[in-house]
Amino acid sequence: MTTPPEPDVLATLRALRQSRRFLPTPVAREDLDRILEVARWTGSAKNTQPWHLVVVTDSALNSGLANLGAFTGFLDGVAASIVVAVEGEGRSVAYDDGRLAERVMLAAAGLGIGSGTAWFSNPAARQQVRELLGLPDHLEPWSAIGLGYTDTSEPQATPQLSGRKPLEEMTSWNRYGRPAPTQPT
Ligand SMILES: Cc1cc2nc3c(=O)[nH]c(=O)nc-3n(C[C@H](O)[C@H](O)[C@H](O)COP(=O)(O)O)c2cc1C
Repeated sequence: MTTPPEPDVLATLRALRQSRRFLPTPVAREDLDRILEVARWTGSAKNTQPWHLVVVTDSALNSGLANLGAFTGFLDGVAASIVVAVEGEGRSVAYDDGRLAERVMLAAAGLGIGSGTAWFSNPAARQQVRELLGLPDHLEPWSAIGLGYTDTSEPQATPQLSGRKPLEEMTSWNRYGRPAPTQPT
């Protein structure tokens, strides 16, 4: 029998949301290192670890990154960002990339630091990210994760981008379409 997780760990995982407005408070170097150490242990297909992370603490560079995507403007105002650049293409690299990004966000949340994904969907924008950060051609910088202390006095999302499907709509038990059995009392 496994030890159940601490309830506050689950509460932190459950509460992770996208932050887009940040206080002008820096994130300590020690905390960035702790987040990176969590990211380093992300699992990947065949343990290929197809990533390189660029930690951007220079606010002029973060402002530059903010201009390179359709919805990346919030990077102008983060305390730091982590650009995730991956080698290779296809479903499994994308999966690895997403797992790492989520770990970064969850590690940040564990330290009380807010985070937000910024996506560079356009190839020309990714080339500009490469040039801005001096990344080699074989690395594709699909996203950056903005980090900072969330300014909770500001809304973080438009209402249509909020909320989730109900659990019953996204799950089946034992066979597609079957609802969860009622709990024995
Ligand atoms: C692949 C991917 C790309 C995203 N790109 C952006 C982005 O460029 N800008 C942004 O503000 N949010 C971006 N997001 C965040 C989503 O908008 C957010 O996860 C979703 O709206 C749910 O937000 P919530 O957890 O705050 O409810 C992205 C998320 C994912 C998974």
